[in-house]
Amino acid sequence: MAEVNRVGMLTGGGDAPASNGVIRAVTMKCIEDYGYEVLGIRRGWGGLLDPKPDSIQELGVENVRYILEEGGTILYSSRTNPYKEEGDAEKVVNNMKEFGIDALVAIGGDDTLGVAKRLHDDFGVQLVGCPKTIDNDLSATDTTFGYDTAVAIATEAIDRVRTTARSHERVMVVEIMGRHAGWITWGAGVAGAANVTLIPEVEPDLDVITDLFKKRTERGDKWGVIAVSEGVTLSEEYITQSVERDEFGHVQLGGIGQTLAGEIKERTGIDTRHVVLGHLQRGGTPTAHDRILSTRYGLRAAEAIKNAEWGQMVALRGNDIVTVSLAEATGETKTVPEDLYEAAATFFG
Ligand code: F6P
Repeated sequence: MAEVNRVGMLTGGGDAPASNGVIRAVTMKCIEDYGYEVLGIRRGWGGLLDPKPDSIQELGVENVRYILEEGGTILYSSRTNPYKEEGDAEKVVNNMKEFGIDALVAIGGDDTLGVAKRLHDDFGVQLVGCPKTIDNDLSATDTTFGYDTAVAIATEAIDRVRTTARSHERVMVVEIMGRHAGWITWGAGVAGAANVTLIPEVEPDLDVITDLFKKRTERGDKWGVIAVSEGVTLSEEYITQSVERDEFGHVQLGGIGQTLAGEIKERTGIDTRHVVLGHLQRGGTPTAHDRILSTRYGLRAAEAIKNAEWGQMVALRGNDIVTVSLAEATGETKTVPEDLYEAAATFFG
């Protein structure tokens, strides 16, 4: 096991509010408590696969002191996959050696941490993962950081469209991110008291939704709000924005809000509009909860480096920050369980 002097850190995949909280905590703890040098690697795995002159930045306490409340990631992000082309993973490992990086903190979701796991398994790279995604779809942790902020933003959006829905006697459909997991929509649907919440885990029944709005109309409420996940399908096919796939094979989802609004209008005769929240859910300042969670994750990740807990990911279990294996964390997408969805469904209508 190689001694650690220099720690690298990168953020990969879709950015998430409070990424800077992790960067700040890892940097400060590594430098002040352990005396390590910290290198920020820009643009995720891309910074190690194909380094540009600005790909590596030495991080000092002065670089991270005031970034906790800042959205985005000061290290930039990319969806680069070093396991897409043969030989690229080796290049990443060699470049790590070139930069003298003894240990790595990989901050990301399933894709970024899946790569981290393979680099650890295949080459013995000394690394620790940190769960970052607004989608909250990583296993082995109660929540990821960024999720709370996304739910707060989507909840506020529902609150806001509700008043205009009522004024104009319309059904407003709010399309929410999350890919193939309905966590953000579920959270915002419950907190925002949506009249209907639709998530990818549960097949929507348009007849039931039509009846619901007919009943609301009969009782004098000819309006309502539907929260729908971007990953919900009305047929076999996902609704997508383009046919292109990213390096991890993901399509760009989007369009279910508009399609559903059209269906509801045709079936009920009620005027409808749709709103796509999109990247508003990822941008801007993180909630206090996410600032605290990301700080705790960062401190524990630094500690995991010190303890040589290689191949592990920091995770929230109840009130504790623990470490779990990257294998456990990345094996399976964590989706919304049926009983939680049923809890939300109690309030539909
Ligand atoms: O994984 C986070 C996420 O925001 C998903 O909810 C969404 O489907 C996707 O990223 C959007 O990706 P991009 O930023 O590449 O448009």
